[in-house]
Amino acid sequence: MSQTQQITNVLIVGATGSVGRLTVQAARRNGLHPRALVRDVQRATLLLPGVEVVPGDLENPTSLRRAVEGADAIVLTHGSGGDPRPDARAHIDYGGVRNILQSLGSARPRVALMTSIYATRTDVPGANPWKRRSERLLRVSGLPYTIVRPGWFDHAGPTQRRLVLEQGGTLDGGIAREQIAEALIRSLLTDSALGKTFELIATEGSQQSNWSELFGRLKADEGNSLDGALDPNDLPVGSEPADLRQDLDAVRSRLREAR
Ligand SMILES: NC(=O)c1ccc[n+]([C@@H]2O[C@H](COP(=O)([O-])OP(=O)(O)OC[C@H]3O[C@@H](n4cnc5c(N)ncnc54)[C@H](OP(=O)(O)O)[C@@H]3O)[C@@H](O)[C@H]2O)c1
Repeated sequence: MSQTQQITNVLIVGATGSVGRLTVQAARRNGLHPRALVRDVQRATLLLPGVEVVPGDLENPTSLRRAVEGADAIVLTHGSGGDPRPDARAHIDYGGVRNILQSLGSARPRVALMTSIYATRTDVPGANPWKRRSERLLRVSGLPYTIVRPGWFDHAGPTQRRLVLEQGGTLDGGIAREQIAEALIRSLLTDSALGKTFELIATEGSQQSNWSELFGRLKADEGNSLDGALDPNDLPVGSEPADLRQDLDAVRSRLREAR
């Protein structure tokens, strides 16, 4: 998709969350019409005054159809934090992406997915592959996408505004939530962000203004790879559980049907 293809309506998944709320604001700031996918309409209306809210639960695929209808773009900022179930990451972080993709029918919105700076790490406390697996679904979907892996939310000081975008999974550090939200929305509107996956933090200095250049320096993911450019090759698909391989196949066939 190029910038000449108009993006107006953007669905924000996780819109009531700490980054999602700021993403709604960033969408408005950039001239887009945000629509919030929410579980609790009453609560969301209070949190997001004046924003279009559409009910839906990421665990209930049929409930998502109305929300995705007519979306030119989708930003996924949902997360399972606070969900006490031991398998919440599988159901929400991963299953939410699968169910959104499966609900699209023949639609081909541009997608921005927020995962985590530790998406590919195995050596940090709490490391788990669910975000990485969710990224793989998006890569095989054939949709125009950008995957943003932010560092520690709001663990950057007020003078640390200079954005650092890297690939390879070794970067670490913090970034303001508001900068993550802006990066997600800008990725939808910038050609050079297409098909790219990157880690994102902020260091000492001012925020750059040329998003095209920031995204443009990055390598695009390889078209036939499940992983991001420069990701470690340590999660072979052949060793993945059968149901996850089936999910990848189902998302790939949706692409074939949509053609
Ligand atoms: N903390 C960090 O430093 C850090 C760094 C990098 C990445 N991350 C990742 O960022 C994510 C957290 O972001 P955040 O702080 O913005 O999240 P958050 O404030 O916990 O919000 C989570 C959002 O997901 C929504 N959600 C959860 N389950 C849902 C479901 N079944 N259907 C529909 N919506 C659902 C929540 O909706 P409700 O309002 O209805 O609950 C809420 O809008 C986590 O996945 C985390 O791994 C965090």
